[in-house]
Amino acid sequence: MKGIIAVDMKNIVILISGGGSNMAAIVRAAQREHWDQRYSARVSAVISNRPDAGGLAFAREQGIAAQVVDHKPFANREEFDAALAAAIDRHEPALVVLAGFMRILTPGFVARYQGRLLNIHPSLLPAFPGLHTHQRALDAGCRFAGATVHQVTAELDFGPILEQAVVPVVPGDTAQSLAARVLTQEHLIYPRAIATLLR
Ligand code: GAR
Repeated sequence: MKGIIAVDMKNIVILISGGGSNMAAIVRAAQREHWDQRYSARVSAVISNRPDAGGLAFAREQGIAAQVVDHKPFANREEFDAALAAAIDRHEPALVVLAGFMRILTPGFVARYQGRLLNIHPSLLPAFPGLHTHQRALDAGCRFAGATVHQVTAELDFGPILEQAVVPVVPGDTAQSLAARVLTQEHLIYPRAIATLLR
């Protein structure tokens, strides 16, 4: 009789707040590159803090558990982060991936997932942490912009850099046109950074 070898799957939990195009890029890369066979890894859940996040429908179509943990009813960040952590921990994740997740996380939350918490930020960190990165890059007269995948530490948009991509700023660029150019690169570097960690 053939024995069955049980392989522990590495679960990836992705947190979103909006359209979820980075999340979709990661899910598609996992399918295309057979992360289940290659790395024993799978995207096991997508969690949004916004009930209207467009990415939730995509996740459900892909058969991925999709859940909302709405931040609004919670009195403070600590209580929201505790509920979020409870939802995440049900999946026993090897990686927790912030993909357009627009909430500032408490130090306790960051410490809980230390070493397995990733973020993508639409600038060449350490330049332009925080919001309105594309407009700030244009206002500063930058000739290049880009995106950064990094490990999350307690400091906002900081932490060891795993991948970066650079795009040119072209004459006539607006924050929207630059954001779109950067986003196409985000879709390449985020799956690549995750696959490298899963190896
Ligand atoms: C992406 O550009 C991501 O880098 C950015 O939000 C967008 C989400 O798009 N994240 C941040 O600004 C985090 N500080 P998506 O929902 O289509 O992936």
